[in-house]
Amino acid sequence: MLRYFTAGESHGEALVAFLSGLPAGLKIDQDFVDRELWRRQQGYGRGGRMKIETDKAHILSGVHHGITIGSPISIRLENKDWKNWQESLPVAEGDPAQHKAVKSPRPGHADLAGALKYNFSDARYVLERASARETAARVAVGALAKLFLRELSIEVLSHVLAVGSISLTGEIPWSDIKKASEKAEILLSCADPGFEQRMKEEVDKVLRTGDSVGGVFEVVAHNVPPGLGTYAQWDERLDALLAAALMSLQAVKAVEIGSGVTAAYAPGSQVHDEIGYEASDRYTKFSRAHNNAGGIEGGISNGEEIRVRGYLKPISTLRRPLGSVDFSTREPVKAAYERSDVCVVPAAGVAAESMVALTLARAALEKFGGDSMLETKRNFEGYREQLKRF
Ligand SMILES: Cc1cc2nc3c(=O)[nH]c(=O)nc-3n(C[C@H](O)[C@H](O)[C@H](O)COP(=O)(O)O)c2cc1C
Repeated sequence: MLRYFTAGESHGEALVAFLSGLPAGLKIDQDFVDRELWRRQQGYGRGGRMKIETDKAHILSGVHHGITIGSPISIRLENKDWKNWQESLPVAEGDPAQHKAVKSPRPGHADLAGALKYNFSDARYVLERASARETAARVAVGALAKLFLRELSIEVLSHVLAVGSISLTGEIPWSDIKKASEKAEILLSCADPGFEQRMKEEVDKVLRTGDSVGGVFEVVAHNVPPGLGTYAQWDERLDALLAAALMSLQAVKAVEIGSGVTAAYAPGSQVHDEIGYEASDRYTKFSRAHNNAGGIEGGISNGEEIRVRGYLKPISTLRRPLGSVDFSTREPVKAAYERSDVCVVPAAGVAAESMVALTLARAALEKFGGDSMLETKRNFEGYREQLKRF
């Protein structure tokens, strides 16, 4: 079974990610992993932190001579900012006078709930781990999941559908999403350049006013075979697994599979994807009139593109802070301010790609098994033949 977890604080020495369960013999492309980390750091509206960090994956175990060896993979990502925090956030006891307390909890952050839960007198330790800096570690292992999926011809990418009130409708073709993802510069990852400019103006507006924005990204998994996930148990449904994976990302407050939200307001005749049969070189010759289901029916991939959207709330840290209370005096004050992004929709999309890739890689390994890539691919090809003969 593919398992992963992360460790590390935003201003600690490093982030660490672990990935266990990848078959042996998968070629690891270090440049690809580092480009994925770079993609997560981009986007118009990011704060000063991203100018300090240039993430590179330092693989510590599980990969030798450029291939996986079937043992757990661990990856270290250096926090360059650590040099500025060694005194104030030491591992050892250190000097309490150097501690940078977060004295008033910021609405929309884990600050208050976390301080109450862990019995902290200020929110420093809470934000250190709740921070989305952690998504860099997810992207590192997500990149390995993407390399695995590539061997099965599956690709995962994202694009931005909305920033604040500027919103693009309709299904954006895979070829446009792919083209946008190959750009050397990332602005707002919108496949429509006109809309991207309008999104930029939306970010400029909040930059001017000390406010923040949210938005919507869509992750698309291309060339996914039918048959991943199952309706057999509630916790094996692919839609449920993907929803949980995306909801686990900081600031994602809703997840939509296909056109799930608008479908709730439409009659069935306009929603369900009529089935046809025609010559094609896909996994099967079954075809669909459209893909409102987002590639999943009954908790199983149905052979269409998987399309899943994440809805992000606006960033919680505001340059014009909202009202809060001082932890020690209980007097009303403005919430603490710490250097912050104002728009992270493209970056959240990249982190979500990783979560989708890890979820699909786990489902694929459950279906095809294999301790070596040779075995996994043989099983995959066998299933492919079975689908062709169906
Ligand atoms: C890629 C990414 C970067 C983020 N950067 C910031 C940031 O700079 N400032 C901020 O206030 N929130 C940021 N967030 C959101 C917060 O981490 C998040 O809102 C907070 O931890 C509370 O969690 P919740 O929104 O899931 O409840 C970011 C989220 C993502 C996905």
